[in-house]
Amino acid sequence: MKNETTLTEVEVAGDAKKMTSGTVSQKIAIVTGAGSGIGRAVAERLAAEGAVVHLVDLNADSLAETSRRIGGVAGTHVLDVRDADGWDALLDEVMATHGRLDVLANCAGIQLTRGLLETSIEDFRQVMGVNAESVFLGTRAAVRAMLPAGQGSIINIASNFANIADGLNTAYCASKAAVAHFTKAAALDCAQRGTRIRVNSIHPGCIATPMLEREIEDVAARRGDPDTSAVRAEWDALAPLGIGTAEEIAWTALHLASDHSTYTTGAEFVVDGGHIIR
Ligand SMILES: NC(=O)c1ccc[n+]([C@@H]2O[C@H](COP(=O)([O-])OP(=O)(O)OC[C@H]3O[C@@H](n4cnc5c(N)ncnc54)[C@H](O)[C@@H]3O)[C@@H](O)[C@H]2O)c1
Repeated sequence: MKNETTLTEVEVAGDAKKMTSGTVSQKIAIVTGAGSGIGRAVAERLAAEGAVVHLVDLNADSLAETSRRIGGVAGTHVLDVRDADGWDALLDEVMATHGRLDVLANCAGIQLTRGLLETSIEDFRQVMGVNAESVFLGTRAAVRAMLPAGQGSIINIASNFANIADGLNTAYCASKAAVAHFTKAAALDCAQRGTRIRVNSIHPGCIATPMLEREIEDVAARRGDPDTSAVRAEWDALAPLGIGTAEEIAWTALHLASDHSTYTTGAEFVVDGGHIIR
């Protein structure tokens, strides 16, 4: 029988009425990097669709702002996503409160716009730590929590720089390729354990967030040009559809979080306005 999605009008706290398919209604979700950009948009989208969302970030003020925008969330957690003990404590708290975890979206990340010769070993370790080790730690902690129910969805934000190389982003490219391939190995492990825990990666292109803004400013400054408009125009021309929005990434995260993607695991979702097909 064909699946039918029923759209329902719901009241979203502090906001206008919105349409929701209810596909993540009452799902228990953790979103990292929720204080800014893509993580914030994913948290907002999941909450708007009825999920019970826990927000995670290093920055307490930006977490509070996301919580305010959503109109109340299940919890805000200041956590460095490289902290293994911190992950265990977070999952203990979520499990003690809700008894289960349905969704983890690993969105926290940093970018370092540096070529090979400008990248120190400390730089490399920092980027690998925040972008890749964190995804290992979060996925491992979430899978442990999801095992009793035998189901769940883990969404790892990689980058289209996992698929295409960029000489100005050597450590970043390495970290995102690690996320993409780790995601597939973790998906296999979960399936081979006989669970329906799904692990997928999203590969955004240039998305208008504070991270992209910092990169544009950094590149312009290194060219000695205080005006960022030339760099911005170059970045905009990378993809046939130009620079995207965090909300456009959040819709893909919603699909992966929902029961509309129950047969999808170990997959890469490239959401980059056509950048990699050029
Ligand atoms: N914006 C883009 O063009 C783009 C493209 C491809 C992939 N991505 C990826 O999307 C994800 C989100 O990026 P964004 O553009 O929203 O960036 P952003 O800088 O706007 O947000 C990143 C968030 O992660 C948090 N964070 C950083 N280090 C952390 C740590 N150690 N522990 C906990 N939180 C930490 C920051 O405080 C911030 O709130 C990142 O993984 C990034 O690599 C972004």
